[in-house]
Amino acid sequence: METVLIVGATGNIGVSAVKAVLQTGRHVLAAVRNQASAEKLFHHVGTKDGITTVEADVCSEKGVQGIVDLVRQGKLPAFQHVYAAAGGGYSATPLQELSTEDLRQIMTVNFESNLWAYRATIPYLLAQNDSRSTWTLCTGSQGDLGARAPPALTQGALYSMANVACRDNYKTNVRFNEIYLALRVEVDESAMKTGAMKASEFAKCYAALLSDTGIRSSRVTVSGYDDLEKLKHESKVNL
Ligand SMILES: NC(=O)c1ccc[n+]([C@@H]2O[C@H](COP(=O)([O-])OP(=O)(O)OC[C@H]3O[C@@H](n4cnc5c(N)ncnc54)[C@H](OP(=O)(O)O)[C@@H]3O)[C@@H](O)[C@H]2O)c1
Repeated sequence: METVLIVGATGNIGVSAVKAVLQTGRHVLAAVRNQASAEKLFHHVGTKDGITTVEADVCSEKGVQGIVDLVRQGKLPAFQHVYAAAGGGYSATPLQELSTEDLRQIMTVNFESNLWAYRATIPYLLAQNDSRSTWTLCTGSQGDLGARAPPALTQGALYSMANVACRDNYKTNVRFNEIYLALRVEVDESAMKTGAMKASEFAKCYAALLSDTGIRSSRVTVSGYDDLEKLKHESKVNL
């Protein structure tokens, strides 16, 4: 059975990815901060079945690397796919008031976490040489809107990371794609109160991306409910 390693699994987007993976008959290997976060994940997904959790500090270079090391030792399930959606720092501190400490913190949580995940997992996926492999990064439109400085800065860095990864993996066994989200997604319980899109709805997008093997090195844009199953995608590679 195929397994998807999800980084940021316990957040709004991560819960959505877990639901998509389970619905497509795959197994989840979820990186969790601690047991409380694991319980939060099970609560929002509604089951523990099909989910293996592993504790890791995704903000450290060693966090996801430690997971890959355990997989290589056969102590965790081998994975063929990665979904990265760590982060969530969304403060509205004005650009000119952002302290050095705040900037470094948000870059670590929102950006470096996903970069370390990439750096730890890509060599493993390339070595496995499984033609089914995918790597998906969730970004958001704040980087283009610029309405909130901290998430805007980190989204800009994530777009650039996606551009590089799309080029680097264009001819490899890993189908790298960016999901660019231009609306708010929350776990169902909270979306029902706020009117945001439910994580269970957004799950349709990742399920569709996993099955559409023709989408590679592309940005998949989600700006409304119509974009969830008939994916809007554009290649990022113009070699
Ligand atoms: N939600 C949206 O509508 C939306 C829209 C556009 C883009 N995005 C993209 O998706 C990313 C995630 O959004 P989200 O709404 O899912 O965020 P979230 O609900 O806050 O979840 C973020 C994930 O990152 C983990 N995390 C956060 N800070 C951490 C820390 N200091 N140490 C370790 N783990 C930490 C969380 O773990 P815990 O559960 O343990 O806190 C959780 O697994 C965003 O950064 C952005 O790139 C989301």
